[in-house]
Amino acid sequence: MKNVLVIYYSQSGQLEEIARNIAKPILNSEAINVTFHEIQLQKPFPFPWDKSSFFDAFPESFLQIPTALKPVPEEILNAKFDLILFHYQVWYLSPSIPVNSFLKSDDAKKILNNTPVVTISGSRNMWIMAQEKIKTLLKEANAQLVGNIALVDRVGNLISVITIVEWMFSGVKKKYLGILPLPGVSDKDIQESDKFGNVIVSALNEGKLEDLQPKLLAIDAVKISPYLVTVDKTANKIFNKWSNLIYKHQKNRKQLLKVFNVYLFLAIWLISPIVYILHLITYPFKLKTIKKETQYYQGV
Ligand SMILES: Cc1cc2nc3c(=O)[nH]c(=O)nc-3n(C[C@H](O)[C@H](O)[C@H](O)COP(=O)(O)O)c2cc1C
Repeated sequence: MKNVLVIYYSQSGQLEEIARNIAKPILNSEAINVTFHEIQLQKPFPFPWDKSSFFDAFPESFLQIPTALKPVPEEILNAKFDLILFHYQVWYLSPSIPVNSFLKSDDAKKILNNTPVVTISGSRNMWIMAQEKIKTLLKEANAQLVGNIALVDRVGNLISVITIVEWMFSGVKKKYLGILPLPGVSDKDIQESDKFGNVIVSALNEGKLEDLQPKLLAIDAVKISPYLVTVDKTANKIFNKWSNLIYKHQKNRKQLLKVFNVYLFLAIWLISPIVYILHLITYPFKLKTIKKETQYYQGV
């Protein structure tokens, strides 16, 4: 009998639905025992979000400062797992605060030690650098990353900014203004995510987890947009400056967060289209680098 642990955190339920769909084929396999663990905070974040809480989560998300979690049940802490499916969402280009807090906890270090892990993200579309941060945290916990699946909102970058923000502030997945597409990972992608579970079951049963990622890639587990990689990297440098500034000046936190809010608006609506045009112009000269980067970010 093999043991699989499914870990997730989800505010809207989107990531939980993804986790349950991917786990379906694993649950159907008689030789595998599946346990679910939901990461829970001592003091939960609001959902739907209000504007001030949403921006207030920025410095601690980006600086990866952990918060208190509810303890992991003893039966999970004392078990040894053959594979962990680790589901996370991105907040401000970093693993969300609940996910970061979990990965830095002693409980997680005990569970992850010497254990293969498949990471599964459900984000808007900007997850590349967050995954690099997850890789570091998994290494520190002595876990082995064997696979990665990145589920995203596939509509255009700026459209998804509008629809996801509206979803986060209303708590309801609906067509904003009646015309914009639904926010988040599409229902089709969520329903079809059991295909990843099938591949994972085979790899686990054959004892070939080290060959898993190419098989996941063959069924579209990860799509890389070179433009979004550029934006993600650039924004990380800028967020680094903002988060440190705000965190070091707690007395002026509220005012600074308001300025950051205005900056973010301008960065998304003014700077990112300029970066896009520059990206298109320089694209032909960067083909080699882009190919290398794409291969790297598709891997584990
Ligand atoms: C505070 C906050 C910041 C976010 N920042 C990002 C981000 O930087 N990149 C991204 O792709 N998605 C971002 N998202 C979207 C989330 O990754 C995720 O898709 C959404 O919150 C739904 O997840 P859920 O399963 O917890 O409901 C953000 C969401 C929140 C609430």
